[in-house]
Amino acid sequence: MKAAFAAALLAALATQVSAVAEWGQCGGLNYAGSNTCDAGLSCVYSNDWYSQCLKSTSSAATSSTKTSSTSSTSSTRASSTSSTRVSSSTSSTKTTSGSAQASSAVPTASGNPYTGKSVWNSEYYASEVYAAAALVTDTALKAKISKVASIPTFTWFDTMAKVADLPGYLQAAGSSILQIVVYDLPNRDCHANASNGELTYANNGAALYQQYIDGITAAIKASSGSTVVAVIEPDSLANLVTNLSDSRCSSVQDQYKASVVYALKTLATAGVYMYIDAGHAGWLGWPANISPAATLFAQIYTSAGSSPFIRGLATNVANYNALTAASPDPITSGNSNYDETHYINALAPMLASSGWNAQFIVDLGRSGKQNIRTAWGNWCNIKGAGFGLHPTTNTGNSYIDAIVWVKPGGECDGTSNTSAVRYDSMCGGVDAKVPAPEAGQWFQDYFLDLVNNADPAL
Ligand SMILES: *[C@@H]1O[C@H](CO)[C@@H](O)[C@H](O)[C@H]1NC(C)=O
Ligand SMILES: *[C@@H]1O[C@H](CO)[C@@H](O)[C@H](O)[C@H]1NC(C)=O
Ligand SMILES: *[C@@H]1O[C@H](CO)[C@@H](O)[C@H](O)[C@H]1NC(C)=O
Repeated sequence: MKAAFAAALLAALATQVSAVAEWGQCGGLNYAGSNTCDAGLSCVYSNDWYSQCLKSTSSAATSSTKTSSTSSTSSTRASSTSSTRVSSSTSSTKTTSGSAQASSAVPTASGNPYTGKSVWNSEYYASEVYAAAALVTDTALKAKISKVASIPTFTWFDTMAKVADLPGYLQAAGSSILQIVVYDLPNRDCHANASNGELTYANNGAALYQQYIDGITAAIKASSGSTVVAVIEPDSLANLVTNLSDSRCSSVQDQYKASVVYALKTLATAGVYMYIDAGHAGWLGWPANISPAATLFAQIYTSAGSSPFIRGLATNVANYNALTAASPDPITSGNSNYDETHYINALAPMLASSGWNAQFIVDLGRSGKQNIRTAWGNWCNIKGAGFGLHPTTNTGNSYIDAIVWVKPGGECDGTSNTSAVRYDSMCGGVDAKVPAPEAGQWFQDYFLDLVNNADPAL
């Protein structure tokens, strides 16, 4: 009797809750909505945080129809290697969502990916730097600028369209390490305005993001023996630690986690060495933030299958902190983790006790000059910044695999035009250099400052 009553109650409840449309969420931890999908759809488990209503035979057939028009920078992105790009042909090797994780030949991870390897010098960034040099007449300055062109910097894949350039980069890199930034999360940059991206969860973002990740994965699998190091989604998880009071972040937190886990699981099948972005000392290093941050990162690592290719965390991406400050900048008062070394040395044991022996890479590309900000949270085109320590594996810290340059110095952080859709007040603030173009566009005056203020000098 009891069981029959319960079944009847469940049936009654099921008719009350509305069914979920295609691409919508239908399950996951903390999810309280309907588990029922519209007719013709089934609720497909993506990971612990996210299940989604998909057509049973959903395929990735819609990929690579996107144009580059959504990106302000992509039209200038065509690199000299673009003649080898494969464009839409990569999509034919793509599998349906989820099954990309079931590849047969899974590579083996071998510790610090940087050990004993050379790093490919991004041709795209070098071309920007040479163009910058061409605008300068002073021969001493020209010589300094040319040195920047030979320092390896990460290549950002901040739109789906740019994935078409990846096969060319892989071929050009050969046996050297190709360094990429995976940066196209839906509802990107949820607490700020300057770097909002092309995808939103409200508009198929979860599925399109999977296509973006599948495209990167397929290109790497098709290449011969490349070593790829990837920074995963700058600022995304950090915003979930500190900015859930902003509904633009809290409303997508489970989807953020689901998408990042998908990226980690899928890229691991191609043997990509991954470092998840972990903000910086002045963000997650604060006493109130560091422990929740460690918990979140360890949870993501575990949820993504604890692959050894999920090597660790990237800190200070596009920021300005010192690796080891000579003395604490006054703006760091109240935070004993006043530089990246203190932050990493505090965070690593917390992760280890949660089951993840994470390693780190640190972006010091714009960290040459210290004590240049009036508030630690200021991040946009900071005046007085200079290029910092050059990439090396000689880090002096066993937690740190390599010092790297992730942010291509000279590419703008965000526009100072108050009428622009992506205007963020940080980019018009007291510490920001103005006038500044849109995020990602070349900012010549800022680049020249980085060159002139470089420490070590170029
Ligand atoms: C949101 O994140 C920024 C870093 O981007 C941080 O400076 C700020 O304090 C955070 N806001 C809140 C309310 O925690
Ligand atoms: C600022 O942005 C507005 C709106 O997009 C545009 O009309 C205007 O030309 C821009 N101003 C400058 C100086 O770029
Ligand atoms: C971002 O844009 C919104 C909408 O235009 C605006 O209300 C908000 O103040 C902006 N945020 C910042 C930090 O500039």
